[in-house]
Parts: sequence; structure tokens; C-alpha cells
Amino acid sequence: MQAPRGTRDLLPAERAAFGRLERSALGLATRYGYQPIETPLFEQSELFERGVGSATDVVEKELFRVHAGRGDAERERWALRPEPTAGIVRAYVQHGMQNLPQPVRVTLTGPMFRYDRPQAGRYRQFWQFDVEAIGDAGPGIDAEIVEMGTRFFRDAGLREVVVRVNSIGDEACRPAYVDRLRAYFAENIDSLSTLERERLTTSPLRLLDSKEPAMQPLIAGAPTITEHLCQACAEHFAGVRAHLDAVGVEYELEPRLVRGLDYYTRTAFEYFPPVIEGSQQALGGGGRYDGLVELLGGRPTPGIGFGLGLDRVVLALAAQGVEPPPPPRVAVVVVSADPADTLTRLRVATDLRAAGLAVRADLAQRKLSRQLEGAAREGAHFAVICGDEMANGLVQVKDLEAGTQRPVNVADLARELERGEAQHRHGPD
Ligand code: HAM
Repeated sequence: MQAPRGTRDLLPAERAAFGRLERSALGLATRYGYQPIETPLFEQSELFERGVGSATDVVEKELFRVHAGRGDAERERWALRPEPTAGIVRAYVQHGMQNLPQPVRVTLTGPMFRYDRPQAGRYRQFWQFDVEAIGDAGPGIDAEIVEMGTRFFRDAGLREVVVRVNSIGDEACRPAYVDRLRAYFAENIDSLSTLERERLTTSPLRLLDSKEPAMQPLIAGAPTITEHLCQACAEHFAGVRAHLDAVGVEYELEPRLVRGLDYYTRTAFEYFPPVIEGSQQALGGGGRYDGLVELLGGRPTPGIGFGLGLDRVVLALAAQGVEPPPPPRVAVVVVSADPADTLTRLRVATDLRAAGLAVRADLAQRKLSRQLEGAAREGAHFAVICGDEMANGLVQVKDLEAGTQRPVNVADLARELERGEAQHRHGPD
């Protein structure tokens, strides 16, 4: 049997690369004062229909609806989360987090699900590093979040990530702009595909995001939202740019940048890897969603966040030749002279682990030389050899790199191995 199409097994080598990014994400978010939160992997479908928007691709085409057991009255009411923002905002409202000091800064890293057409960098189960700050209208917090994203990529070792920033207005100025855009594309309706004609009615903004080559000249000539922002949005956007400049974030203004989810207002941004052949996939994106809390039943409350695609970051790192970290391994392997004596090996290893060491016991009933070979192949630094001297409270500790060996009292073993490990890490005292 095979893993479902569009999903991947992360075998230890790749899991290690993800693990490093997850730790880095959590460390970074914590340093910025964002606290970890978890929400369910599935929610009521209505949350995404209302929050993300039922006319978006993410909900209309890509939502994984969950079918519960046969005859279940609640059947089809759930969906696997395609993104975490709606769930986090639902939790914010449900748990009365409006009453906490604002903004509430939270972070979540985990799998998301979209029934997308699978291809490189586009999966049906993928991982996001997400942060959200709910309860601050900005513009300083906008810049804090955009900057945090750039730092994440830098810390990961990824070079030349480009940030594109735009403001997509709010309910005061966007409707008039959308009308203009609709009129503009309607004048050029002959260049529009069937799907795009449909979009012209449902969500004209999404036309700016079309990848169709025939559309590109039309998009290039389209009116931009930036020219049509109301004064409040224009001031907010100027503030965001001033804050970005103040913290030294280099960004590109992209007046045609729009996002695929309906909840966005004002600031919208995306991160891109350096240009490579073919279509460019965003490494992450985010923006402000000042109407979402209210839409989900809370008091009117502004919010902003980003989601970074860890699968794409791993791919981009590989494309730039950045070596993934080696999978974690144990430093010590316990072996014994008697091929049958697995009991002593397990006991000694258990004691060493209880003392906090990373230890594997060789539990195969095989010759000592084979046990030692296995330990060396695994890259362990030390082999603890249990033999007849155990009767006198002694084992042999073999340094597998130096090839040297010496007797050690079992009572001192954990301490001796710790000291030896420290020398391996930092060199001799
Ligand atoms: P999004 O742009 O839909 O935004 O997704 C964020 C990132 O997730 C993308 O830039 C991409 O790197 C990654 N991603 C999306 N779909 C896939 C896929 N099928 N396979 C692999 N990676 C993918 C959001 O999800 C918003 N919740 C971000 C946000 C948070 N806005 C405010 N707060």
C-alpha cells in the first residue's frame, strides 16, 4: 500500500530537517513573546466557509470534508483545517481571550490539509509555522510580524528571500476599487477564460492572481488598489512601511498582490524564494484580518498573522545546497562479550538512560565484534562492553573514534560517559 496521493512520509532524514525548522520556529516566536497554542486538526466546516470564505479555492475546491461513521447525525459537518487562522480566532472568541491583555500573541506549527492538485511544493498535507497577534490595529505589529518571517528564513539558512508587501484596503475603500477592477476586466472579457469569467462575478480581486500567460499584460495594466485606498488605509500602510524601514526590512511594494483567503484587510504580504525557472511558489504569506473576530461572533477586534510553508522551506534549502542536520543519534551503545547476554546490556542501558544519557542497547544475540561494528556504523562515540569483570563492578569503555579502551567502575559509568561526550563535543579540557 502507498501513502495517499499528495502526502509524504517524512523518513528520519527529512523529519530531522523539519524538526530543526519546528524548533527554530518555536524558539523565534517565543523570543518575540508569542505563546504556543494548539487547535483541533478538524473543525466545523462552517468555520472555514464563513472565516476563509466559501467562494475561495481553499474552501470551494480544496476543503477535506470529514465523513464520520455511518449513520452519524453530525456527518459532513466537519472539515480538516486548511489553515490555522480561523481555528485560532474561533478559540480566541470561544475562550473570551478579548478579556486578556491585548494583543494576544500566539503561535502554532502543524499540519494543514488542502485537496490541491499535488505537485512539487504543493501537497494535500503540508506543514505551516503560523503566528497571530489579535487585538492590535497596528501598524507597528504589522512590521513586527513581517520582520519575524524574514528572520525565520535567515535563521534557517535560506538566502535572498524576497518580501512583497501591499495594502488591500478595507470595507471603506475596497468595494469601490473592486467595482473599478470588475469594469476594467469586463471591458477585456474576450481575453478571459471560462474560470476567469466566473471569477469576474464572484471575486474579481483573484483575477490579479491569475497565472495564465494571456492574462499577464491585462493584469499589468489593471488599476491598483494602492491608488484607491481611503485615507485611513493609506495612513496605516505608510505607517507599516515606516516601521519596516525602521527595523531594516527590505521589501518590494507589490500593488497587485492579493491573497487567496477572504478575511484579509489592509496589510497583505508574501515571501518568495529567489527566482527560479518556472512558476514561483510563495514560501509564506499573511496579513491583517480586522473583520474576522467579529465575523466569528466576537467583539470587533483587529488581527494580523502569517503562515509559512515548512515543506517549501525544506525544498528551498535543498535547492540552495544547505545541508540538512543529521538525524539525531545515540552517543553510547551497550554491548557484551557473551552473545546470549542481552539481559545485562538492557539493564546497563536502562540505568544510563535513567541518568539522562542517550544510549542504545544492542539486543541482537550476535558476536561482540558484530555488536561493535554496528555501534561504529551508527556513529556512536562509545561502546560500553559488559563482560566477566561485571562481577567486580567493572565494564570496559571503548572510544570508537580513538580506538582506545579502559576499565570503568559501573558506579562511575554515567559520569565518565558524560565527561567523554563533553570532550567529543568541545575537545579535551
Ligand atoms: P496561505 O497563503 O494560504 O495563508 O498559506 C501560507 C503558506 O502555506 C503558503 O505561502 C505556502 O508556503 C504554504 N502552503 C499553502 N498551501 C500549500 C500546499 N498545498 N502545499 C504546501 N505548502 C502550502 C494562510 O494559510 C494564512 N492562514 C496565513 C495567515 C496567518 N494569515 C494571517 N495569519
